[in-house]
Formats: sequence, C-alpha cells, structure tokens
Amino acid sequence: MAELRLVVTSSEAATPQIRTLVLAAENGGALPSFRAGAHIKVHLPEGGERPYSLVNTEPSPDATQNPTSYRLGVRLEEDSAGGSRYMHGLKEGDVIAATGPENQFAVRDEDAPVTLIAGGIGITPILSMASELSAAGRPFEFHYCGRTRDALAFVEPLKVICGEALTLHYDDEPDTAIDLGAVATSAGADGHLYVCGPRGMIEAVRERAHEAGMDKDHVHFELFTKHDEQVAGGAFEVEISSTGDVFTIPPDRSIIEVLEEAGIDLIYDCQRGDCGICQTGVLDGVPDHRDVILTDEERAANDVMQICVSRAKSDRLVLDL
Ligand code: FES
Repeated sequence: MAELRLVVTSSEAATPQIRTLVLAAENGGALPSFRAGAHIKVHLPEGGERPYSLVNTEPSPDATQNPTSYRLGVRLEEDSAGGSRYMHGLKEGDVIAATGPENQFAVRDEDAPVTLIAGGIGITPILSMASELSAAGRPFEFHYCGRTRDALAFVEPLKVICGEALTLHYDDEPDTAIDLGAVATSAGADGHLYVCGPRGMIEAVRERAHEAGMDKDHVHFELFTKHDEQVAGGAFEVEISSTGDVFTIPPDRSIIEVLEEAGIDLIYDCQRGDCGICQTGVLDGVPDHRDVILTDEERAANDVMQICVSRAKSDRLVLDL
C-alpha cells in the first residue's frame, strides 16, 4: 500500500458540518488510481489514523486513473478531539501523511441492477459509485437520506450524475421518508444494494432486504460511525486463552488497540465492524456486539466477536487467541 505525502490545495465548507478537502501529491505528479468505494487512511499527528473515502464527482472512466488530486468529504463530529477536528483545521499548503488507497467496497463488475443508498456523510463512497456506474453506462437507483435539506452535501453534482435516478429524503420532512421495504422490493432478488451510513440504517436495510427475499451476499455495506462511538463503554478484562495473560480494556480503547500495544499480532482492517476480518472466537464471557456483520443468531450464540468494535457485557472475556 502506497505511503502518501499530500498537500492541501483547497478546503471549503460543503455544508455547515462538512468540509470538502482537495489533496495533491506533495511532490506533484499523479496519485495512485482508485475505484469507487476506496478510502485512504490519514495519519493523525497525535497517533492513530482515520479512513476517509475518496470522492469522485466526474462520471468519466479517466477521472480515477492516475488522478492529480484526491477529494474528501469530512463531517465535523460533535465533541471530536481527533480526526474530524484535525481535518477541519487543515489549510491550503498544509501537508498530511496517509496510506492507500484501499478498497473493500467496490461495485461488482456484473450486470445486475444496482441500488445505492447513502445516509449523511455516508454519501462519500456512494457518490463515487454513482459516477463510476454512470461512466460505464450502467443504470442504478440512488437514495440519499439526511436530517435536513442543508445537511446534505454534494447534491448539485449528484443531480447532474443521477438525473431521474436520484431521490432525496429528509428526516424533518416526513413526506420524503424513505420506505426501505419498497426500495428492497423494487431492487429485486437479482439486484445488489450498496449502502453507507450509520449503524441503524445499515441494520434496517439488511433486515428489509432479507424480508424482500434478497440474498445477504447482495447487500454490500460500509459502516460510518464516529471513533468515539465505537470504543465508548465501561472497562472490562480480556484473557488470552493460549497464554492466560489478562488485559484491562479501558472505556475509551478497543480490544485491538490494547492487545496490539502489548505486542500481540492481530489481523484486522476496517476497525468499524463491517469487514469481519478481525473476527475472534469467544471461549467464555458475554460480548457486547457492536458490529454489523453478525446475524441475530450469531450474536445470540456469543461464540465469536469482532474485536475492533465489540466490547463485553461480562466482566471478563476469554478469547481464542
Ligand atoms: S476490522 Fe473489520 S470488522 Fe473488525
């Protein structure tokens, strides 16, 4: 994965809460190509990293091949002490470090009907998908949901890219409310749904798609949650079954963060609870599942968990590590 040094060439308010940042290679020249759904991980000055999806508003096959800039949309999270405040404070000429692009959320290259659903800042990868599909001449439906009209970013380019395929939904205008059951039914059993937004939206889409008879492999999602939401919760202990070592997971840190710091080699990726790569066996204790991967039955069994986001309802978990 490429190590990137990126200079901010523009930072503009897209809505009262969202800024659009344009980044170029510090040494000039082209940046790595990407496909819709890709993100880069920005390294924060105080440590850690935050993923941000790459936004493409140009429905052209060339727009994402060796681009000379990357565009991000960053929402300022209330009470943010980390990523979004840092990103909103960047000015033209500032240089940031990042890695990527990576992509676990690409649109499949098959001719099935596509429905795109975005909630809030989840618009960033979904907008790029609309551009990519439009460039390829593939039809799609697009539903974009937000709290109010002025909370939705990128509406004007979306209207151009999507035309009649775009439907906007506002929480404070009940007559525009999205009917997820109807959306899933109209997508059809052969269709594919791509959704990015908050946990509640993704869970609702998965449920309605299941009720509509859609195979779960046809529902593709990327979770958008605040880092603070992912890790908030009480302290608990984790015991490593192979060694008997016990670690305390404090309220503001994840299991992965604590175990990695202790030198334990772990495999993980999204750190949002939507890729399943960090799934770990639970030999004892009761997890507090916070992912969007597991089914209700799998959660109830309590024998696996995603250690990037999930926590504990019991005082101690014994993990199969
Ligand atoms: S790293 Fe993706 S679900 Fe945990």
